[in-house]
Amino acid sequence: MTPRLPIALAAALAACASEPPPPAPFDPQREQSVRPGINDDFTNPRLDVDAMVARFEAESREVFAKRSAIARAVGAQPGMTVADVGAGTGVFVDFLARDVGAGGVCYAVEIAPKFVAALAARAAARNQPQVRAVLGAERDVALPAGSCDVVFACDTYHHFQYPRATLGSIHRALKPGGTLCIVDFERIEGTSRQWILDHVRCGRETVVAEVTAAGFDLVAVVPLGLEENYFLRFKKRG
Ligand SMILES: C[S@@+](CC[C@H](N)C(=O)[O-])C[C@H]1O[C@@H](n2cnc3c(N)ncnc32)[C@H](O)[C@@H]1O
Repeated sequence: MTPRLPIALAAALAACASEPPPPAPFDPQREQSVRPGINDDFTNPRLDVDAMVARFEAESREVFAKRSAIARAVGAQPGMTVADVGAGTGVFVDFLARDVGAGGVCYAVEIAPKFVAALAARAAARNQPQVRAVLGAERDVALPAGSCDVVFACDTYHHFQYPRATLGSIHRALKPGGTLCIVDFERIEGTSRQWILDHVRCGRETVVAEVTAAGFDLVAVVPLGLEENYFLRFKKRG
């Protein structure tokens, strides 16, 4: 006669057999770009930095016109280590360098080599030894682990081609309980300007969902009176 399994054991085995396998661990190198080519102009070796200064440092650009209030809301304090990820031409670097002071560090991270060179030259010309221009990569901000009190990204989140990998690298770069500040465009169908709808891949809710899934808690939507942009403050969980 065939031996019979006790009913409870047979049920447990059946349940195990029907469970899906655990998901494979996330491999940053295998993440697919959410916006192929969006940074090609910036990473082009022929990038015209002066033309970018004219584009980014125009009063008609809301985040430039409100740069002082935005920088204040980042909350950099003397002695802190902060990072401006996607620093561009350095619109916010002077403010952050001033706020962390001579005893702090302001990393100015860029994936565009010509911006990195220009940021380094600018900091040297302005005698800001606390500013360190860093060449990051599309999937990795290339900052020392556990080094930053605050990471700030203005008008840059929608340029992250690999948001999960990049957020993972920001998470690693932050100290426990560190802050991530994101300023980006409101993207609202039927309301936002067409070029924003075309250029910016997602709205605020998606950004919050992605950043939350990467190990952060949203702690504030900072009211700065911005019309086309939002300012979100997150804290590193754990
Ligand atoms: C629209 S610009 C904003 C520049 C600056 N934050 C400002 O508001 O004036 C976006 C910048 O993000 C940079 N960028 C894009 N992806 C990046 C990444 N993964 N890490 C660091 N910088 C990135 C681009 O090279 C570009 O200079």
